[in-house]
This record gives sequence, structure tokens and C-alpha cells, in this order.
Amino acid sequence: MSDKSMEEIVALCKRRGIIFQSSEIYGGVQGFWDYGPLGTELKRNVRNAWYDDMVAMHDDISVPENAPSAFSMVGIETSIIMHPRVWKSSGHYDLFHDMMIDCKETNRRYRFDHVVGEWVTKTPEGDSETNASESFWGAPDSIFVTTVESENRREVLEARALKFFGLRKKHREQLRWQGEIQPLTSVQNAERILAPDAGELGTLTDPREFNLMFKTTLGALGDESDAAFLRPETAQGMFVNFKNVMDSSRVKFPFGIAQIGKSFRNEITPRNFIFRSREFEQMEMEFFCHPDDSPAWYQYWRDRRYKWYTDLGIPAEALILRDHAKEELAHYSVGTADIEYAFPFMSAGEYGELEGVAHRGDFDLRSHAEGKLCKNEAGELVVELGEDGKPKYKGSGKDLTYFNDQTRERFVPHVIEPAAGADRATLAFICEAYHVDEQPDDKGKMQKRTVMQFHPKLAPIKAAVFPLIKKEGMPEKAADLYRSLKRAGIAAFYDQQGAIGRRYRRQDEVGTPWCITIDGDTMSDGTVTIRDRDSLEQEKVPFEEVVNHLATKLR
Ligand code: GAP
Repeated sequence: MSDKSMEEIVALCKRRGIIFQSSEIYGGVQGFWDYGPLGTELKRNVRNAWYDDMVAMHDDISVPENAPSAFSMVGIETSIIMHPRVWKSSGHYDLFHDMMIDCKETNRRYRFDHVVGEWVTKTPEGDSETNASESFWGAPDSIFVTTVESENRREVLEARALKFFGLRKKHREQLRWQGEIQPLTSVQNAERILAPDAGELGTLTDPREFNLMFKTTLGALGDESDAAFLRPETAQGMFVNFKNVMDSSRVKFPFGIAQIGKSFRNEITPRNFIFRSREFEQMEMEFFCHPDDSPAWYQYWRDRRYKWYTDLGIPAEALILRDHAKEELAHYSVGTADIEYAFPFMSAGEYGELEGVAHRGDFDLRSHAEGKLCKNEAGELVVELGEDGKPKYKGSGKDLTYFNDQTRERFVPHVIEPAAGADRATLAFICEAYHVDEQPDDKGKMQKRTVMQFHPKLAPIKAAVFPLIKKEGMPEKAADLYRSLKRAGIAAFYDQQGAIGRRYRRQDEVGTPWCITIDGDTMSDGTVTIRDRDSLEQEKVPFEEVVNHLATKLR
């Protein structure tokens, strides 16, 4: 587990205008968040870093390092509400659900696979024989105490068990644990389960399916035939436009279509700040290639996407690339690897998903052409039939194949999909950037310093400009530099309030990489002092060169 406190990170985000609870003045609404002024800049930088890498700065005509060949990349922006048949063909209508359970005592609802717990019983005080016994498991008074918290799970479980057995903390040695936290999904004896927020045993219902798509209605009548859905992923926008893009953009095969946009899921238990919300933003790319080349492209995109995070400051020790086990694969997936980060709210050795890179085979294009697919007994994808023997959900009937006019081959392209969450990536960059150290203040006294060590590309403010004092022409000179930086597209901030040390601290807390002071030297020899946030080194740079100097560093 990380030594960074999630509570402090959330508090900093609120204090410095990075992220606020949505509708906070009305008590907030669970699973929805607002980005404040600095958070908006930060997230915009995350999006730009992704889009620049994927599309804007991609070179269609040369072969990138480790890529099997050159390829094209284009962007797209599709609507949030799509034709309801899209979700029938894609499988979301039937299959996009989680199992939920309800607590009859507290009326709370949980995602079945998110509840974990441990068997525990109370031994009589000083009863060393029972303590040593191996056979007391299954004793009638042992209970399965549960939680959904992922941070400090052991502490939470212990506190709950002590409360249930009416013990005080000093009597904790009377608790006997099986010693292994396990998912609720593996536990049978419902009557011995203590639900995550309950006081009594056996209050959980059986698990039930819950579709995660938000439903809405189109038009004035609003009956079932007008039902539509907020998209739960941006990916379908790319699949249904595959033919439009191919026919209109002169893309060279293989090619990718990338999109950044909002997605919506009615998560049963939104939690962990912006990690799991009901409205969030995805950065997805669908890469269409020849089936024979798809394993090489899958490898290429896994590695390249992992590198994107490390290049932007997530250290390899905190990031894993995890291959999904066969049982874990989504209904369409031939293979998937998750890029996961050791978020501070995870328990030791656990990671949270930032992005999934999936080899989706020809599932999507075939589904939208032929109708919803399913696997037959031989494991082949075939059109799913309804009770009447006809396709359960008809596809568009359009030709979604690719014709290679050199080889004269026609085929349904395979798809590799790197699907990232903009909010999760932003949260990972926030957590990674957060540091607390000690630095001397203006009087040389050691003071705690909170510093967000964002990669300069991501930092919401790149440069803060300070006149050392509010006279002798320094404010005017500083304002001049501030405006030049802004005109050059470098996010700058002007501050003339308070001691210089305090101004540094305020910028450190929001992760500004460079603070520029206009001082006596500026007025005499035309140099400014640039202080580096991380090394704390100060360098003298001629006033006229500051903009170029920073632009070069940012490149
Ligand atoms: N098109 C494939 C797809 O949507 P996914 O793994 O369900 O795959 C991709 O979602 C990414 O979207 C995840 O890795 C995660 O970063 C982000 N994401 C998914 N659900 C989210 C939620 N409820 N809140 C925030 N981000 C979410």
C-alpha cells in the first residue's frame, strides 16, 4: 500500500480547485464530479497528450519504432445517444450488467464482486487452547465479516468484528481470523454473513443482474418504443462509422480511429473519488488491421500504451501490464491486457485499471453487419438466434468488409482497441505527482512542503511570474512577461501577493514547474531568475529568452 494519503489528496484537489463533488451545495450526487479551474487545465493536458500521441502528431507515412508497418490515424467525434439497435448488436443490451446484492437492513446496494471479507470468531478471554485449535473453523459462532473498502481493509474488518462481538480494541487478540481475505462470491453460508454496513447477520439478498446503461426516452411520447441509452463506451461510434471513414478519408490500411468523449454507466457502487464514476470520459482508439497481422499489432499497442504512461511520469514500479485470464475476457475479446496503477486507495500488491488493450477480433464489425453474435459449442462466433429461429437482433446489413485492391482480397478487419479512461489517467497522474517534503522557509526554518510533481506537459500552470516587490517597475515588467508567455500558448500565472517563499509554496502545491522572479537584476542587467520546482535550482535567463527557453523545455 502507498504511504500517500488519499484523504489528503482529495482535500488538496478541493482546496486548489482541481476536483469538486458535483452539485456540492445540494449535498452532492454520488458518482459525479466537477473539474475546477486547475483540474480543467490538467485534464485538458491529459487529453491533449493522448490525442497528440495518437492522432495529431502521428506520422502516417513512416514506420514507427517497433510497429509492423506504417499506418494511418484519424480522429472522430460521435454522438452520445446512438440508434438503440447499436446496443443490441454490440451485446450491451443483453450482456452489459453487473451482479448486485441488496442489504435488507440498511437498504444499501453493492456490486457482488466488490464485497470481500474474512471468517472470524471470538475466543474466550485467555483461552489459549481454543486459540491453538485448528478445528474451530466452521464453529457456529464464526461469521464472515465484509467490507467494500479497498484501502485499509484489514483495519476496517477488525473494527467491524470487534463491534459485532462487543469487544474493545484492547481485546483484539480474542478475535481469531482465518487469515485470508476472500471475495463474497466464494461464500455460501448466507446466514453467517455480516453485510458491509449492517449490524445483524444474514441481511443480504441473492445476487441479481443490473444493466449498467442509463436509459432515456426520445421525443414527446416517451414510451418503451422510444427508449434510448446514453453510450456506455465511445467505441461503438468508431465501429458504426468504419465505412464512412474509409469511404471519405483516404486512410491507408491498416488504420485507427480515435475518439475522446463522455461515457455513462449506472455503476452500482461508484467509489474511490473519480476512479469509478457514473459519468466519465474515455480515450479510445479502434485499430483495423488484417487478421493475420493482428497478433503483432496487439503486441505493438500494449507496449506503446504502457510507455505513454511511463513517459508522462508514472514509474514502472507503480504500473503493471496484466494479461487477462480466459474467464475474465469480455464477451467479444480474444485477448486483453490491462495497464494498472498502484493507486493509494488499493491494498498492498493490488492495482487499479487505467486502460484495457483488447484484441476484439472481428466481433464488432461482424455484429454491426450481421447481427448480434454469440459463441456456438465449437467456440465460433455465429449470429445469435431468437426462439423463432431468426437472428435475435438483426445487424445493419451493410458491407463492413475491407477490399485490398492490390492483393484482391476481401476480409472483415480485426480490431485492436486501447481503451483508456481520461479521469482514471488524471487521477493516477495526481496521485503520482503528490509528494510531501521539508524545505527551509524565508527565515531558514524547515517547513512541510506539499508539491505536485506533474510532468511539465501535464502541469495545469507551466510558469508563474512574480515581481519581487510591488514597485520600481517590477510589476509592469512581470506583467509583460506573463502576457508574452500566454501569447506563446504557455499557461502562465501572475502573483505579486506575499513573501516570495509563500508564493513558491502556493505554486508547488499545484505543480507549477517553473517560477520566474523579476527582481533588481532584471531592471539592471535584464536577467530573470527561474526556479525549478523539483531540483529547487535557480538559474538566470535573459528576459528576452524566457519564452523560448520554456517552450524548448516543454517540447
Ligand atoms: N470499449 C471498451 C471499454 O469501454 P472498459 O474497460 O469498460 O472498456 C475502458 O473501459 C476504460 O474506461 C477503463 O480502463 C477505465 O479507465 C475507464 N472507465 C470504465 N468505467 C469507468 C468508470 N465507471 N469510471 C471511470 N472510468 C471508467
